[in-house]
Amino acid sequence: MLIAGNWKMFKGPAETLAFFDAFDAPEGVDVVVCPPFVSLEAAVGEEWPVYAQNVHWAADGAFTGETSAAMLVELGVQGSLVGHSERRLFFGETDDTVQRRAEAALASGLKVIACVGETEAEREAGEMEAVLRRQVAVLPRHACLVIAYEPVWAIGTGKTATPEMAEEAHGLIKSLHDTRVLYGGSVKPENAADLLSQPSIDGALVGGASLDAASFSSLCRIAASLS
Ligand code: PGA
Repeated sequence: MLIAGNWKMFKGPAETLAFFDAFDAPEGVDVVVCPPFVSLEAAVGEEWPVYAQNVHWAADGAFTGETSAAMLVELGVQGSLVGHSERRLFFGETDDTVQRRAEAALASGLKVIACVGETEAEREAGEMEAVLRRQVAVLPRHACLVIAYEPVWAIGTGKTATPEMAEEAHGLIKSLHDTRVLYGGSVKPENAADLLSQPSIDGALVGGASLDAASFSSLCRIAASLS
């Protein structure tokens, strides 16, 4: 079971260190933390694997605001999120750029959590399957790539897919790509056991509930108890 905390644009270096002082994960669960870029260096000094939230496909170059996989590797970062829906929605990420970022990261030795998921409008229009097929099709087949299914309507909204809805989507994704699939979207200690006990749910990508060390520790304990 893999539990990844996506901190988004929260926690500078001082808050990152304070989080790790209070964080306590049990054995038996893989834990990953994805802090903002400025806090990566503080986080890699701690005992849990650290992933970036984004990575560029070029080795270097005139790409203001971007960071290459080699730079992350040099810092001791072990992986990166790719294609989070907030990147797709607010920063022009496309299936093509998701593919390029994922391929470059894997080629540099980083692990990848690639995010896919339909919007509410797409689900209501009956397009969920087509969207997932399209987004999964571009993802490299690689042992170090994990997919996170994050229905966009469930992110940060408090609306969670029911375990059955998540299981159905995970089943589809696994039929298209032979890899672990994490669920993401308003996962918290209260709903984690129901979601994580589904047979096709291999872990969680957690936003809001990963910011608080006590709630993230408790999520990790729940995952460990189900592993
Ligand atoms: P959330 O975010 O848990 O706050 O819904 C999940 C994510 O965006 O990865």
